[in-house]
Parts: sequence; structure tokens; C-alpha cells
Amino acid sequence: MSEVHTRPIPAAFIENALIGADDYERMYRQSVENPEAFWAQQAKDFLHWDQPFTRVFHEDLSRGDTAWFADGALNVTVNCIDRHLANRADQTAILWEGDDPADNQAISYRTLYEKVCRLANLLKAQGVKKGDRVCIYMPMIPEAAYAMLACARIGAVHSVVFGGFSPASLKDRILDADCRLVITADEGVRGGKHIPLKANVDRALTDCPEVRRVIVVKRTGVPVDWDSKRDIWYAESVAGMDSECAPEIVHAEDPLFILYTSGSTGKPKGVMHTTAGYLLMATMTFKYVFDYKEGEVFWCTADVGWITGHSYIVYGPLCAGASTLMFEGVPTYPDASRFWQVVDKHKVNAFYTAPTAIRALMGAGDDFVTKTDRSSLRLLGTVGEPINPEAWEWYYTVVGDARCPIVDTWWQTETGAHMISPLPGAMALKPGSAARPFFGVQPALLDGDGKEIEGQGEGSLVIKRSWPSMIRGIYGDRQRMIDTYFSTYPGYYFTGDGARRDGDGYYWITGRIDDVLNVSGHRLGTAEVESALVLHEDTAEAAVVGYPHPVKGQGIYAFVTLKSGHAPSEALRRALIDLCATEIGPIAKPDIIQWAPGLPKTRSGKIMRRILRKIACNALDSLGDTSTLADPSVVDELIAHRENR
Ligand code: PRX
Repeated sequence: MSEVHTRPIPAAFIENALIGADDYERMYRQSVENPEAFWAQQAKDFLHWDQPFTRVFHEDLSRGDTAWFADGALNVTVNCIDRHLANRADQTAILWEGDDPADNQAISYRTLYEKVCRLANLLKAQGVKKGDRVCIYMPMIPEAAYAMLACARIGAVHSVVFGGFSPASLKDRILDADCRLVITADEGVRGGKHIPLKANVDRALTDCPEVRRVIVVKRTGVPVDWDSKRDIWYAESVAGMDSECAPEIVHAEDPLFILYTSGSTGKPKGVMHTTAGYLLMATMTFKYVFDYKEGEVFWCTADVGWITGHSYIVYGPLCAGASTLMFEGVPTYPDASRFWQVVDKHKVNAFYTAPTAIRALMGAGDDFVTKTDRSSLRLLGTVGEPINPEAWEWYYTVVGDARCPIVDTWWQTETGAHMISPLPGAMALKPGSAARPFFGVQPALLDGDGKEIEGQGEGSLVIKRSWPSMIRGIYGDRQRMIDTYFSTYPGYYFTGDGARRDGDGYYWITGRIDDVLNVSGHRLGTAEVESALVLHEDTAEAAVVGYPHPVKGQGIYAFVTLKSGHAPSEALRRALIDLCATEIGPIAKPDIIQWAPGLPKTRSGKIMRRILRKIACNALDSLGDTSTLADPSVVDELIAHRENR
């Protein structure tokens, strides 16, 4: 890649930035040279403790072990709500913008307190206790945040399942975490379309006999099927509850939530985060990476069903006492100007979205942007996938009027919070680079032999020391966590991403180096899509790889072999695509299906995905060695009929 030009920090921004260049260097040095002192101070500055900690951290990365502030005790909602009541009870905590531009609502910290306490009391009345898992399957409405916080209030562990997942995916997640209670809504509304959440829950629960209670928020009021022994309405149930609920003070290392994410193999895994370390890092990164100032309005466009929504719609902003905007809709409804209309309407100061949205809006034309004012914006951010320099430049010049720094934040469900990102007042920006590590984060690049690359170079991105919001486990399968993240390179956390480091120490994330896809910033395992495709009775075998897609970042390319006697047809193609949607969710629909008479396999029967990736990307001159294949002619056949030319 040619070196792109550097964008200096806009002068007006530097003057008021929380962290300047010298601060970054000094604080970063302290954070890695003396992490005990650094983190002890941050934990005292950022969090309210009911019982102060005396031990800062312990780590043994070879076993995936870490513990932070372990003898301290606190409650997340005391930090996110109660402690703000003295000074900002009437300030907006959650600013909700509905799918319909006429729908919006401002929820003050005082109201948030009451809503969360009532729901917490309802959960308790239903028998939910500390440590119990609660599944949340909700649209982007304030009740989703109330539900997460109500769990945290009583020490229950939430497992939010993205509302775009199918009943089958929901069922898997409910069973895996052994959730006994589900919180949902009658329907979700996105881009004018209705999503039948309650009906999806009903279908999922036919296989989940342990779920005894479903709390249903009335979002649209459509008639829904009702199991009167199991289902209760949210509004009427919380109305009878007390508006005060004493917080459960939990240990720093008690679990806060489980969030399922895809890996290279097998079913999605329940990534577990604990209380204090997660909250500290979500809050600290929120404040420093977004340069958050008292009174500002922050908007993260993610769904609360993803880690980005957990950390930067709910926990980080609320713990910092900010006003966080929650948007129910989509960027293109009623038209492609919606984001910027909302920015103007609510005077948004910092805006955080995914490259896929930027690319889609860029394609719609500049007028949708330039006809809006956007003068409230001070900072822009991106997350979820590498951003191509063209999209970065458009975001910077057209959306941000070349006034607003862009923070390109690299992190993962497992890291809980930003790991590599510009601090906007401290470093110049390079379009396409996530810049430098956050405090306490020590990235390294390893070569093919697992040796650290010094200075400039490209390799496998790993992290050398633990950090407060590091993954603490995979629910129900500790060994899988060790195998996935801590065994590939013993002593390091393995990210699964590749990266390049340039001469200025800036990191350029090159994307996943394992069998994980990143489709529109959504993470999917190739194995999950393959499992869905082979459920069809005509399918003998399937292999799925990613390929570059102009809007989605990566598209899904599936090679499908049919059982003998079955012929390809358009109807079968549609059926297979639908199967992926019903098994996983619409995001898992393959973009391309190529009928493959055979797949390239080694003599021991292993599918050589490297070759399939090259065919899918149309990179035929770098196919590499095919001589070890059991039948090299398979490759010629696939090339001759490839679908992406
Ligand atoms: O490949 C990286 C990509 O998204 C993966 C993590 O996905 P997930 O756990 O769903 O979390 C997404 C939101 C944090 C990473 O392994 N990724 C995330 N942010 C970036 C990125 N790739 C490049 N640049 C980023 N800023």
C-alpha cells in the first residue's frame, strides 16, 4: 500500500483536548512501566468503590488468567446512575431517536434511575438472583438499556442477543448460557420495517423448557401470541414495583455480562466480561478517545446487541455522566440524509459509526450531507473493520468539513474497549491507520515463527500484557478460551488479526487472518455459514470464504457441492440463501454461491481454503502451490466457473 498523507490535528481541537501529545507519551510510558500505580490511580479517579481495592492486578497469560482490583467491590449502576444524581439528575442520560423522525424521547438520569430500579425489582420478584443469566432480545429502544442496567443493579448477568438473529441462533444462545428469563418486545422497527421479535422468541423457546418467564415491552402494539403462564407485559408489571432498589454490591471480578461472538470454528462463544476492569476501561476510553467534555451529546450508531453498543452506548457514556444518543433506525431511512439530520436535531458533538455505513452513504452522494449543518460535530469515529483511505477522506472532508479528527478505533468483543486508536489531541491522523495503542495496551507483531518483529513490519497482531477489560472466559468452556486466545503464541493474547507497523509506530490493521468473516462490520464464522448450508438435503459439502465487497467490506462467497443426482437451480440457490437467514440471521446470507463439482482438498481430505479465497478474490496469479492437492483439476474447474470476475 502506498503511504497516505498525514492529517495534522486541527489547531482548534488541540487547544482544548484532554490529552495532548506530551500527556500521551508520559501517561503511556507510566502505564507500561508502572502499571500498578497507573491503573490504581485511574480506577480511583474513574470509579466509585463501595469497598476499595488493595490489589491492582494479577496475570498469567499462559493460562489466560487475569484479575483486576480483585478485592474491591462496587456496583455498575451506582457508577452509571446513582452517583450522577447529585449534580445532573435532570440532565439527559439517554436521548432516544425513533425509526420515525417524529419519535423521540429524552430520559434524564433521574428517570433512568427510576426505570432501572423498577425493572430490577421486577426481576427480583421473578426470582432472578445474583449470578443468574438473563437474555435480552430487544430492538434499539431505551428499555434495552434499562434491561441491561437492571441486571447489573442486582448482580445478574445479561446476555444481549442482537435482534437481527434468527430464532435458531437465539435458542442456541439461551441454552448455552442457561438463561431462565428473556426480555423482549412485541416487535422491532427499522427503516419502516417491522421485525417480529416476540414471535421469534416464541419459536426459540419451544426448545428451551427452562425459560419460565418472558417480559415483553410493547413497542408497536401489534397482536402477539401469548402464553399466559409464561409471558408478562413490561409496562404493567413494572408499574407495581418500587422505584427504589438497593444496589447489589459485587466483587470487581464478578461477571457483568456474556456476549456471543463468532470464532473460526464451532458455534459462537459466550465471551465473559467482569465488572470493574470492564467498566473502567469502557469509561476511560470513552472519555479520552472521544475527548468527551461535560455536557456533550455522544452518538454511537451500533446496536446494543454488539460490544460497541455495550461499551459506547450504555456503559462508557453513562459511567462518564454523558448524554448518549440511541437510534432505532437505519442510515438510509427516510433517506440517506438521516444521520446528519439527527446530528443537527440533537446537536450531536461526537459521532461514531462503521466504515460500511460510511461507504454506503458515500455512494448516495454528497448532497445528502452538505444540505445539513453539522456544525455541532467536533469529532468523528469509526469501528468494526478496516476503513479504506477513500472512505476516510470522504468522512473527514464532506461529513466533518475537515474540522473534526477521526478516531479509527481497533478493538474486539474480547477486548471490551478500544485497544488501538488515535487520541485525537495527541497524534496526527493517517487515513486507514488505527494509530497507536491506548494506555496500558502493549501490542506486538509476530512473524511466522512466533518471534516479535521490531520496528516496521507486518505480522500477527498480539497483545503482550493483560488489560483491565480483557476477556475473562468463554461461558461454560474455559479451555476453549485458552485454546482460542492464549495457546497459539504462549504468553500472548492472540487477536486473530494481522497488522503492519510503520516507521512512526502507527498500526495498520490488515484484517482477520483466521476463518472469521467481517461482513458490514459484523463478525461471522465461515464454519457457521457452512453448517447452515449443509443442512439442506441436496447439499453434500460447502466451503465459505470472504471476498472484498465495495460496501460491506467483505462479502460471503460459498462454494457448494451437491449430492449426486441433484442439479443446481435458481430455486436451490434461493433456498440455500434463505436457510442461512433462518439458521443464523439475514447478515449471514451468502452474496455469491458457486456450484462446485468438487472442492480442492489435500490428500488427507482437508479443504484448502487458501486456494478458495484466491478464486473468490479473483487473484488467480497468486494461487500458490496446488501440487499437494488430491485432484488439482478441481481448481481449473472452479476457476472456469468463478462468479466474481
Ligand atoms: O478484525 C477486527 C475488526 O473487527 C474484529 C472484532 O470484531 P467484533 O468482536 O465483532 O468487534 C467489533 C467492534 C469492536 C477485529 O478482530 N475490527 C474492529 N475494529 C477495527 C477492525 N479492523 C480494522 N480497524 C478497526 N478499527
